[in-house]
Amino acid sequence: MAIRTILHYPDPRLREPGRRVEKMTDELRSLVDDMAETMYAAPGVGLAATQIGEPWQVFVVDCAAEDEPSDLRVFVNPELLELDGKAPFEEGCLSFPGAREEVERAERVRVRAWDREGSVFELEADGLLAVAIQHEYDHLHGVLMIDHLGPLKKRLLHRKMVRRDVSATA
Ligand code: NI
Repeated sequence: MAIRTILHYPDPRLREPGRRVEKMTDELRSLVDDMAETMYAAPGVGLAATQIGEPWQVFVVDCAAEDEPSDLRVFVNPELLELDGKAPFEEGCLSFPGAREEVERAERVRVRAWDREGSVFELEADGLLAVAIQHEYDHLHGVLMIDHLGPLKKRLLHRKMVRRDVSATA
């Protein structure tokens, strides 16, 4: 396993949609393991393959509280079957270091995906898990947290991230 480099906004690779996985292979399982390790090391509650420059429809989440045992969930080729209700939620993203923004999401979701072994499962989720699933699903389609903000907040966050990027590479 290896910790991968997480791409930061405005890296254009974050806009590239992930490709559908045709078959789970050892290579993809090892990508999943790297993603989990990278997410835990960050630390974060979710990570999409597109955030580490791997253009696949794969994401991992773990929404367990600090005092709970880990609850790693792997989603390959996820489809959102149902979205229900609306609620604002303060979100962060490993591709937007230091940013916290209120985003409106569905309160409950039903999702179908493959697990790490390629078996299909369906899951109903609410709360933080529902938010994380929608956030990571967006990543697989090149959609980012900033796209959900109003014009003013969008401009402020963009400027903050671009400045950060410049100072990080200077
Ligand atoms: Ni994110």
